[in-house]
Amino acid sequence: MTNSVIVAQQLVKKYGDFTAVDGIDFEIDHGECFGFLGPNGAGKTSTMKMIYGFNTVTSGKLNVLGLDVETSIREIKAQLGIIPQEDNLDPDLKVFQNLRVYARYFDIPKKKAIQRCEQVLEMFQLIEKRDKFIHELSGGMKRRLVIARSLLSQPKIIIADEPTTGLDPQARRLVWQKLQQLKQQQVTLVLTTHYMEEAAQLCDRLAIMDRGKILEVGSPKALIEKHVRPEVVELQLAEAHMENLLTQLNSMNIKFEAVGDTVYAYTEDAQSLADQLRMHEGILRLVERQATLEDVFLTLTGHALDD
Ligand SMILES: Nc1ncnc2c1ncn2[C@@H]1O[C@H](COP(=O)(O)OP(=O)(O)OP(=O)(O)O)[C@@H](O)[C@H]1O
Ligand SMILES: [Mg+2]
Repeated sequence: MTNSVIVAQQLVKKYGDFTAVDGIDFEIDHGECFGFLGPNGAGKTSTMKMIYGFNTVTSGKLNVLGLDVETSIREIKAQLGIIPQEDNLDPDLKVFQNLRVYARYFDIPKKKAIQRCEQVLEMFQLIEKRDKFIHELSGGMKRRLVIARSLLSQPKIIIADEPTTGLDPQARRLVWQKLQQLKQQQVTLVLTTHYMEEAAQLCDRLAIMDRGKILEVGSPKALIEKHVRPEVVELQLAEAHMENLLTQLNSMNIKFEAVGDTVYAYTEDAQSLADQLRMHEGILRLVERQATLEDVFLTLTGHALDD
């Protein structure tokens, strides 16, 4: 008996000749927050759209709640809360009406539906905007409304494609808080992001995705432990002195990545490594810090998340 609520096997999405999702496997457990972390074009949205049936599956298998997306997408969708990357609010309807109409898809009885609409507006601090048209909302308010809308049906699984893109730091924290509360209620969260901070804050496990492939799956902590060291010395260097420094790091057996004029040296103890390197010629900037998922990504792909 497995605890998985979403299972993908050799999942492929092609658009014409172009392969956007290139044979990925993953299993998402009941009640966990599972994140897809990757740069623009990695294939995150293409994967989400297959889960909620907006995209057809080109090949491979995709099961959600024990049902095959190719044959049972209606039953699946009835149990999902969907936050698409692109806002798809109805511009002809006011805020409250957008929610009311959406609630009808789930056959929520009228009185309960009205209550739920009010609750989710409260939750995302939009109650004052209930009688505004969509074009009267700011970008971040529209985003919050899409998130609020996804919760109307009290779904078992929430598919959130970059839920907090475009939100200010305060609104982002509000959304993180609400998503964490849902997780405490055993709701399964599947989210995509290119903010490593979001991934680290919310996700129990992450799939690191790049160019249609999953490179690694693991908890944020395990990924950092496996691929980098806990601390980093980040050095910016004049070009002429770069080779020398890399030779020195090699001789010290230090794991590093070099990107342009910056070297990331991974270590158990950034302070002591920084002391050894500080006198090196040509250093323009030296920073000691904790390793992050960004470093894991860099080590796995050779390029940064926001490239
Ligand atoms: N409808 C489409 N037709 C053709 N190509 C597409 C289509 N949708 C996506 N693609 C391509 O598939 C690749 C993956 O796109 P996708 O939207 O899945 O990436 P993503 O990881 O969500 O990126 P982002 O972080 O920018 O949202 C990209 O190269 C994109 O150009
Ligand atoms: Mg996307």
